[in-house]
Amino acid sequence: MPEGSLPKEKTVVTRPYVQVEGIARRYGPTTVFENVWFGVNRGEFVCLVGHSGCGKTTILNILAGLDAPSEGVVLADGREIAGPSLQHAVIFQGHALVPWMTAEQNVAFALGSKHRDWPRHRLAEAARAALAKVGLEGAAGRKPSELSGGMKQRVGIARAFAITPKMMLMDEPFSALDALTRGALQEEVSRLVTEAGQTAFMITHDVDEAILLSDRILLMTNGPRARVAEVVVNTLPKPRVRATLHHQPGYHALRDHIMDFLITRSRTLAGAPPDGYDPRRPPEVII
Ligand SMILES: Nc1ncnc2c1ncn2[C@@H]1O[C@H](COP(=O)(O)OP(=O)(O)OP(=O)(O)O)[C@@H](O)[C@H]1O
Ligand SMILES: [Mg+2]
Repeated sequence: MPEGSLPKEKTVVTRPYVQVEGIARRYGPTTVFENVWFGVNRGEFVCLVGHSGCGKTTILNILAGLDAPSEGVVLADGREIAGPSLQHAVIFQGHALVPWMTAEQNVAFALGSKHRDWPRHRLAEAARAALAKVGLEGAAGRKPSELSGGMKQRVGIARAFAITPKMMLMDEPFSALDALTRGALQEEVSRLVTEAGQTAFMITHDVDEAILLSDRILLMTNGPRARVAEVVVNTLPKPRVRATLHHQPGYHALRDHIMDFLITRSRTLAGAPPDGYDPRRPPEVII
């Protein structure tokens, strides 16, 4: 055996937890996006950024098994995603709570779909513990109509984390909230994802949110025929704190790069890809 090479049985094959392989979505003659390839590694936090209508929600729904691509496949843990899974929880932009159930019942209901053998009192207890983790111990008995927007979103977060999924999928989960609530919930989600060692995929329009949370940021061109133009590697050290993020060396350059993409390059790069662009390996950029 040549010096320096590993014996076969010790070769470790690492593949991403999620592998998106050449997916497209077409509606009749319109192609929303095509040739989209990317991976999300285990324990990694990936954000997807792009303008309205480029297909972000569609991609997230495909990852959640709630929608299927017109072309291509998505693998999770090496297996094709063919439908919703309790291993992949979604936090929606709207809280998507059941209006006639209390906060506790909403969380217990989700828990019951995972733990079918648990008696009611155990589900209720676990639901209260999940709500306590997001600071809602006092609101367990309230219905969504009796909760503020931020509290409703917290219930949605508690519900998603309660089922201890391997992957958390988030579609602009904080966009409807005021800045203060948004900041608090970003930090909560970041803590919960890190504690659980989860893989996370989040769509956001908030560049600071992407910089705060992500390990890598996928930048999508405008549609139609949108694609992942590049992948920005976020090398800012962790843990990151919202209040001091903008003082970190490298923050402004990273922010400017993403803003320039959103303002100009997302449009100029739309349509025909540049020479040398390989959709299977969109360029990784370190700022
Ligand atoms: N049933 C449908 N028929 C035709 N076009 C559709 C249909 N559903 C969605 N689309 C189109 O697909 C595109 C992608 O929608 P999607 O919701 O994924 O976008 P998005 O990037 O999440 O946008 P936003 O930032 O506004 O949430 C949109 O241009 C939309 O008009
Ligand atoms: Mg969307």
